[in-house]
Amino acid sequence: MSPSDSPGAKRGGFSSGLGVLAAALGSAVGLGNIWKFPSLTGANGGAGFLLVYLLSTLLIGLPLMVAEIAIGRQARANPISALRQLKPHGAPWWLVGVAGMGAAFLILSFYSEVVAWVFAYVAKALTGSLLSADPAQTQASFDTLVTDPVQSLLWQWLVLAFIGSILLLGVTKGIEAVTKKLMPLLFLLLILLCGYSLTLPGAARALSFLFAPEWHRITPAVVLTAMGLAFFKLSIGMGTMMTYGSYFTAAQNIPATAVRVMLADLSVSLLAGMAIFPAVFSFGFAPSAGPSLVFITIPAVFAQIPGGQVLLAAFFILTAIAATGAMLSIMEVPVVILHERQGLTRPRATLLTLLLLMLLGAGCALSQSLLAQFQPGGRTLFDWADYLSSNLLMPAGGIAIALFVGWAWGEGAFATQLSNHGQLHNRALARWLCLLLRWVTPTLILLVMLAGLGVFGGA
Ligand code: ALA
Repeated sequence: MSPSDSPGAKRGGFSSGLGVLAAALGSAVGLGNIWKFPSLTGANGGAGFLLVYLLSTLLIGLPLMVAEIAIGRQARANPISALRQLKPHGAPWWLVGVAGMGAAFLILSFYSEVVAWVFAYVAKALTGSLLSADPAQTQASFDTLVTDPVQSLLWQWLVLAFIGSILLLGVTKGIEAVTKKLMPLLFLLLILLCGYSLTLPGAARALSFLFAPEWHRITPAVVLTAMGLAFFKLSIGMGTMMTYGSYFTAAQNIPATAVRVMLADLSVSLLAGMAIFPAVFSFGFAPSAGPSLVFITIPAVFAQIPGGQVLLAAFFILTAIAATGAMLSIMEVPVVILHERQGLTRPRATLLTLLLLMLLGAGCALSQSLLAQFQPGGRTLFDWADYLSSNLLMPAGGIAIALFVGWAWGEGAFATQLSNHGQLHNRALARWLCLLLRWVTPTLILLVMLAGLGVFGGA
């Protein structure tokens, strides 16, 4: 065991159960909740999709989240050191930590650009320059932003600097303090927007779009989509939950926390759907997914509502809050690895991470302007970063973590961690989770992964 594999003498950590919950929830809740989850639910069979998503969360998301947190808390170290420490001999499991760091960098390089658009839209919404009831006009505003290389880069750097400055404050005074303030604000804004939206005439149509089960639409491809979403929603396979696990308090009940995070994350996704779609249907727009919903349809919808400017600003502020918590958790992975393994001070590790992300992220930021024609293998750099992290690194990391806990680390050590060294009655649960991690979870992820790589064709 090298010196950098031993737990740091003095590491940061979350100071309370509430802090743990806020940070972990902050990581799970992200851009995915605001548009991806509601749109996918509506477009893929409503309540039926929800049921498949929940099953996938139970069989893939939750076991992996618990596994990652348990590994992190046992080792009290960054993902690479943690895996080396728990299994110093035999297969090089620490490579899973390296892959997690690679996934974190790739995700951040494109995620930070989408968050850059969100931050730009907060500013635009506050000045009222976004409001136009004509979707052609809101489309033109969005195109102006993303095709301008200077604006794209500057907003991305601003976002990175903002997240980096929170990380510079450390785990307790930075991540924990900020997420503890932001999460209640996120729920408050979301409930207010949702309450307002449900009074609009399109509310009934929106609720049936989201919740009426259309069983015939549950095809194998839809099942795979739901599994992929469950997997990615809980920030699994990128070293994040393992890193946060290393900051968990000793008394924290890991499975109970994971279930709470999953349920709260689901509530945010459902509330987002109930805030967005009544307004979309009330003004005759079509529900769509991705950038066109958030950056083009929503401004056009809110332009038609009395007090639309305030609502639009509130919407983008809450999206920015959701994205901030997720980015903090992903960026913490390389920061703590560089800090603990390369011996850099935390500020230097943060600055180096920022520098690397500015370089990597520039490729994604310029993907719709200066580098729009640069499409090796038919994809822009933005799309490559998304594709490689989503379809390769994160699922592969998930499989490896499941196999590590199920076979290499073993049920005994896992159960000791889940029961807080015998203080909680979690042993039976640990046995069941271990069985899932040995057989079910890796098999299901492998299917998702092969589908993502197009092995089954068209999925
Ligand atoms: N879990 C985070 C999200 O949904 C990464 O955006």
